[in-house]
Amino acid sequence: MKILVTGGAGYIGSHTCVELLNAGYEIAVLDNLDNSSEKCLDVVKKITGKDFKFYKVDLLDYEATNKIFEENKFDSVIHFAGLKAVGESTKIPIRYYHNNITGTLNLLDIMEKHNVFNIVFSSSATVYGMPKTVPITEDFPLSTTNPYGSTKLMIENIMQDVYKANNKWSVTLLRYFNPIGANKCGDMGEDPKGIPNNLLPYVAQVAVGRLEYVHVFGNDYDTPDGTGVRDYIHVVDLALGHIKAIEKKTNVQGVHIYNLGTGKGYSVLDVIHAFEKACGKKIPYKIEGRRPGDIAQCYADATKAKKELDWTAKREIAEMCEDSWRWQSRHPNGFND
Ligand code: NAD
Ligand code: UFG
Repeated sequence: MKILVTGGAGYIGSHTCVELLNAGYEIAVLDNLDNSSEKCLDVVKKITGKDFKFYKVDLLDYEATNKIFEENKFDSVIHFAGLKAVGESTKIPIRYYHNNITGTLNLLDIMEKHNVFNIVFSSSATVYGMPKTVPITEDFPLSTTNPYGSTKLMIENIMQDVYKANNKWSVTLLRYFNPIGANKCGDMGEDPKGIPNNLLPYVAQVAVGRLEYVHVFGNDYDTPDGTGVRDYIHVVDLALGHIKAIEKKTNVQGVHIYNLGTGKGYSVLDVIHAFEKACGKKIPYKIEGRRPGDIAQCYADATKAKKELDWTAKREIAEMCEDSWRWQSRHPNGFND
């Protein structure tokens, strides 16, 4: 089976490429390298011992994307490509809508043209907006609080409509919780450009000495220690969720929706302490005001994925932090090292 991985040079995409190749799938990667490095794909090739074609192509370039489908016969597409920074999306919403929505519309149109009707899409727990209770199940009401989240929800709706219009489609919407960690090899991992927005890369860069201390956004939430609680999931577990989706849902017509999380919540301070254990250093932090738009708690009920995809997240928070630290300590400047 041959799979096109859009955004395959990115953090989650590259980890998924490793697992796809290890499971024996043939792949091709499309990425414009807007937020990633081709060096990461060299690591993927090295650790799997397998080769694949890389297309440095922007999904906004219809002709170039179409040409990839003319050159290859794909069975399925895993669609990671997109812009993903929540804060940035509030400042440059047009770019976010254009990139994420138009890019996806091009892809879907080209797929139909070439009779490729299987797609797995990177959605997000952000589509649950401000959930009233936790854990979150797939049938919770959907809403968004920022342009990035709105692109995810719009794409989910677009894909639902595409299926309604043509029942040949198999659409799998995977709603990720908070991916962290890295491949065990220590040579690939999350490499955000500029100052990290997300907690874990920020903590890792404090540990390695690139940043001074962690800003903890609020300790007055209604949570056990007052700091925000999230469902951190090892990126390799997340990648394996995609393999299960491909295995179980390819050519199964319909729209299939799954939460990919561990079902466990950890606070900001839990994460800092787990990382201290992993790196053997004290991580300095300061408590500050809440970050606008943040919610107190967010964690998954992942029983649907367990039942229907035979998938559960296996890796614990200690392993997530150890693997992140191996990558960060070996490559303090990410792929620039
Ligand atoms: P990433 O930025 O590392 O990877 C995305 C990749 O897509 C990058 O390599 C980027 O260069 C590429 N890309 C962006 N726009 C493109 C375009 N128009 N054409 C071609 N390539 C393009 O991000 P990630 O963390 O690996 O996330 C992958 C997907 O998962 C994204 O869609 C993201 O929104 C979603 N997601 C991520 C998280 C998270 O916390 N990391 C959580 C939920 C959902
Ligand atoms: N936090 C800090 N300091 C930081 C960064 C974050 O205290 O420097 C706190 C936040 O307030 C929150 C927790 O750490 O309580 C996690 O924050 P992240 O920014 O790492 O993650 P979010 O849960 O806010 O959002 C992430 C992605 C979204 C995605 C969502 C899915 O950024 O794109 O997970 O659950 F939609």
